[in-house]
Formats: sequence, structure tokens, C-alpha cells
Amino acid sequence: MKLEGKVVIITGGAGGLGKEASLLFASEGAHVVVADYNKEAAEEIANGVNGLGLAVDVSNREQVDRLVNEVIDRYGKIDILINNAGITMDSTLVKMNQEQWEHVIAINQTGVFHCTQAVVPHMLQAGYGRIINTSSIVGRMGNFGQTNYAATKAAVIAMTQTWAKELGRKGINVNAVAPGFIMTPMTEKMPEKVLQGMKEKVSLQRLGTPRDIANTYLFLASDDSSYINGAVIPVDGGLSI
Ligand code: NAI
Repeated sequence: MKLEGKVVIITGGAGGLGKEASLLFASEGAHVVVADYNKEAAEEIANGVNGLGLAVDVSNREQVDRLVNEVIDRYGKIDILINNAGITMDSTLVKMNQEQWEHVIAINQTGVFHCTQAVVPHMLQAGYGRIINTSSIVGRMGNFGQTNYAATKAAVIAMTQTWAKELGRKGINVNAVAPGFIMTPMTEKMPEKVLQGMKEKVSLQRLGTPRDIANTYLFLASDDSSYINGAVIPVDGGLSI
């Protein structure tokens, strides 16, 4: 058991990657807080692992503060935060409207700021913490039709490195994971030809699985990575090389 007794908040914990992480972390002995916009799904997953399912919109600071207070009331501490919630609203630069721009920034970027700022005082008090942010290879490489999304994922890298510098000396490690093409319900629906094209760009010649990402979250959350701080780990099968 790598996370015996640890309290972990996983934002977007009811989604494709978050659910896999919630189940894996629980199997490693953690108390898992599934924090998601989708209340029913969060509660269902949490019930299955004897955790806590809470509804939150990470872009809303009041809701984030309420969530953190509820976790502290229940468990008395927060050891690990995984800033995994994220959305896409794709459009080319010329066609992108203000709502697409602002909504993606509000959730993927401001949401990460809100959750981290709300949780860190409790980690500082304990002198211990692990923060794991979810970036994407597109935060380093850009992507057609994803001005908004790529900008937020680059911001996640910058925040990770800044917080690693600020918080490392206080016993809090901050790292990021940059997934590549991951097989989710969304990608499973794509035509075989498109999927094949994606696979050919990956040096391992396959898409990643949610477990590949959850395993990396686990590594960064556990003491196995205690000397890693400010890193951005690509989990992309070699797509970015
Ligand atoms: P998903 O769409 O399956 O799950 C996202 C979850 O976040 C959902 O449960 C949703 O309800 C929740 N959510 C959405 N808005 C929220 C909000 N305002 N507050 C709280 N929760 C909210 O997405 P997936 O694939 O699991 O992605 C997870 C993370 O991984 C995201 O940050 C995404 O950008 C990133 N990522 C995913 C890749 C992929 O191929 N699936 C590739 C690279 C990065």
C-alpha cells in the first residue's frame, strides 16, 4: 500500500482519467475525495471505494473553499491534490468566440489556481503535501483548433514550476503530468482511420490508457518520487520526441 491513510482530492475524479485514478488510489489505501462537476457520478464512484463524493465547479472559488472545508471537517487533513478536471471547447483561432476562450481558461487554468490556493494552507500547516497538475503535450507543442486549451495547459506547466519553487522548501512537491493521446470513451468513438493516424505518430505505435496516467499520478503522489519537484512528465508513448 503506497498511500495508506493519505487523504487525496481528485478534481474531475468522475471522468475518464480521474475515475481510474480514484479507483487506483483507493486500492493503495488512500481516502479518496472524488470532486467533480457531475455530482451523481462523483458520489457513485466514491461510494464504491468508501470515499467522499462532492460536487464542485473548480472555476467557482466559493464552491472550492466549501469543498476544502468539508474535506478538513471529515478527515482533518489533505495530503494530496490532483488538479485533473479539464475541458475542451475547440475552434480555430479565427472562429473562436469569447465564451470558448473564457470558459476553458476559467476551468483549466483558474480552477487549478483556486484548488491549489485553497488546499496549500492546510499542507503548509502539516509541513507535507503533494500537488499533481494535469497538463497535456499540447501545452508544449500547441494543437490545431486548441488556442484556448493549449494556452491553459502551458499555464499549468508555468504554475507547476512556480509553485515547486515556492513550496518545495515547505515539504510540498509540485509536479505535472502531460498526457498524449489517451484512449477514452471519446477516442473510442473515432473512425478507425483517424485512430490509426494517431497511433502512427506515437513511437510506441499505440494510444495510452487511463491506467498509464493513473500510474503516473500514483508515482508522483507516493514517496517513490520524493526527490522530484517541478517536473513535467510526458506520458505520451514518445509522441513528443
Ligand atoms: P473527461 O471529460 O473524461 O473528465 C473530466 C472530468 O472533469 C469530468 O468528470 C467532468 O465532469 C469534470 N469537470 C468538468 N468541468 C469541471 C469543473 N468546472 N469543475 C469540476 N469538475 C469538472 O476528461 P479526461 O480525458 O479524463 O481528462 C482529464 C484531464 O486530463 C483533463 O485535464 C484533460 O485536459 C487532461 N488530458 C486528457 C487527455 C486525454 O486524451 N483524455 C490528453 C491530455 C490531457
